[in-house]
Amino acid sequence: MKVLLLGATGNLGSRLIPALLTHDHTTIAFVRSATKLAQLLPQPINEHLHVIEGDAKDATAVKQAVLDNACDAVVSTAGLAALAPWSKSDLPEIFRAVLTGVREAGEERGRPVRVWFLGGFGVLFYPGSETMISNYIPIYLAHRQNLRLLRTLSPDTVDWSMLCPMTMISESSDLSVPTKKTSPLMANASVPPAWRQSWMQSIPLVGRFLTIGMNASRYETTLEQNAEFIADDLESAESRWSGVAVGIIDGSK
Ligand SMILES: NC(=O)c1ccc[n+]([C@@H]2O[C@H](COP(=O)([O-])OP(=O)(O)OC[C@H]3O[C@@H](n4cnc5c(N)ncnc54)[C@H](OP(=O)(O)O)[C@@H]3O)[C@@H](O)[C@H]2O)c1
Repeated sequence: MKVLLLGATGNLGSRLIPALLTHDHTTIAFVRSATKLAQLLPQPINEHLHVIEGDAKDATAVKQAVLDNACDAVVSTAGLAALAPWSKSDLPEIFRAVLTGVREAGEERGRPVRVWFLGGFGVLFYPGSETMISNYIPIYLAHRQNLRLLRTLSPDTVDWSMLCPMTMISESSDLSVPTKKTSPLMANASVPPAWRQSWMQSIPLVGRFLTIGMNASRYETTLEQNAEFIADDLESAESRWSGVAVGIIDGSK
């Protein structure tokens, strides 16, 4: 596929570059600074990348990047959610602009664009309920507002998925191709996979909070695993993850 990658200089975005190239996706990086990206990457990778400079808050620039490069898909890791509910981040503004850009690009060419967005663990439902985990632990709330926005879209406008990891750590700072072409991640739509229930959940008021705390560290994954998961999914013409928030766990642990 031809993939437009936003956030390529970031933790996840920089791991997505080798993963996308390993899967033979033609990769176009949309970044604020081409120089910063070039300094981050090994020279052989720079040679395989097409780079566009722009701001992800500019919906028209995003739309134009998709159309000018005939991109089949977009992966957006641009912007970082703020931890505390009272902190501000650019993510909601970036998210709205990217969504507008890809929606308009899809409308103009008569075919919805396939898009992977990043969310957080908190937008997944507490298993057995339709209550988001972030209702119990209210952090990184921008992802909730972003998912709500996606759910207002009619299905034929944007072919979206939202990957919702807990903390991602790095396996290596080596950004050279090829990467591993398999990921040990197990995934589930809307709820975290392989959740462990606990007797604690029946404790009044705090039971679910405690059960989330007990489970949380099990959901740590690596940046490389998540990059591989997305790059691999983009090999299929139709994704099983279209229109859903995706929970993941490292099944090899
Ligand atoms: N890291 C985790 O453990 C984790 C866990 C769960 C969810 N997430 C979510 O996953 C996403 C990616 O996380 P990350 O750790 O890779 O974030 P990150 O390292 O902070 O990367 C953010 C990227 O966004 C780019 N960016 C920011 N504003 C931009 C703008 N206006 N236009 C274009 N690009 C812009 C930054 O580019 P510059 O280099 O130009 O600043 C950078 O490349 C975030 O939404 C985060 O909330 C992360």
